[in-house]
Amino acid sequence: MQLPLVDPFERAIRYLRVSVTDRCDFRCVYCMSEDMTFLPKKDLLTLEELDRLCSAFVRLGVQKLRITGGEPLVRRDIMTFFRAMGRHLETGALNELTVTTNGSQLQRFATDLAQAGVRRINVSLDTLDDAKFTAITRWGRLPQVLRGIEAARAAGLRVKINTVALKGFNEDELFSLADWCAREDMDLTFIEVMPMGDIGNEDRLGQYWSLEDLRSRLAERFSLTDLGESSGGPARYVRLAETGQKIGFITPLSHNFCESCNRVRITCTGEIYTCLGQDGHSDLRAPLRGSDADADLEAAIRRAIALKPRGHDFDYSRQQVDGKVARHMSHTGG
Ligand code: GTP
Ligand code: 5AD
Ligand code: SF4
Repeated sequence: MQLPLVDPFERAIRYLRVSVTDRCDFRCVYCMSEDMTFLPKKDLLTLEELDRLCSAFVRLGVQKLRITGGEPLVRRDIMTFFRAMGRHLETGALNELTVTTNGSQLQRFATDLAQAGVRRINVSLDTLDDAKFTAITRWGRLPQVLRGIEAARAAGLRVKINTVALKGFNEDELFSLADWCAREDMDLTFIEVMPMGDIGNEDRLGQYWSLEDLRSRLAERFSLTDLGESSGGPARYVRLAETGQKIGFITPLSHNFCESCNRVRITCTGEIYTCLGQDGHSDLRAPLRGSDADADLEAAIRRAIALKPRGHDFDYSRQQVDGKVARHMSHTGG
């Protein structure tokens, strides 16, 4: 029996987010520039290497595995990897295998995901207006995503919608998004926009819509009750009495949640980032490729976890963007 992973601030690491590709079929304005340069395919971990790496984390006590990207469902043959990870659900080692997706490929893959043991997925969607959807994602088409969500629900997957709160962009859709999710029986989580990637500082400040404000607006129409429950991620949830629906808030700017952080991230090239909001990372690809001995890999993982920082330094409170991280969100999959 291995000792579980615990970081220097006594946080147990139970949640691994694995980015399986840096590519995406969308170009969301707050996430990517239009002319992104992607990694050469030879730099990526193979599906077998991803399996070995994730399985090492599972042995070290990770209970929740989320597959991210870029857009994870554009990686070739990715269902093979989902099916392989499904075996850790069957043994009971893993409690949850899940994915964060832009929804574009769900029509193709929803049934396969459900068969691999996925029960619940998070779909990113910031607007229900066709023209605005194309404006924010640049390359995305809303009807395709809505059909994907339909397919997911038909396959028995529970869907949570992730919406980045953007001032002047989707403020006017707060209630229409909430109503839509209530009608369709989907949870909804709002996320504060974080200063990652090379978009202009003024844009970030202009885009930032504090979830404290969003929550007050919601309370003008609904009665909100705080829920103690967690989905194992950073969201805090409320229940709306009138509709019975659950709404989550991810508030890295207005209310820091780092003290309860339980997660680390792996990129598609085998780097481990122990904090989304810091540049520090370690390489796990060399130990992975350098030796077949799992003990060496596990030792490298423990060394990386020992460097996990206390938290991010994102801050807009002085009317300037502080704590910015140059890396794009798609590098680590959020
Ligand atoms: P659930 O399992 O439904 O709780 O999902 P989750 O919130 O853990 O995963 P999801 O991929 O839906 O994450 C939503 C977003 O929350 C991410 O894309 C990030 O933008 C943000 N987020 C997640 N973890 C962290 C974190 O540790 N720090 C910060 N600053 N943001 C985070
Ligand atoms: N700030 C907050 N959320 C972001 N996402 C992408 N870029 C940012 C950002 N700069 C979100 C996506 C998706 C998740 C993976 O991260 O909309 O829901
Ligand atoms: Fe792609 Fe998600 Fe980034 Fe949009 S936010 S460009 S869907 S990785």
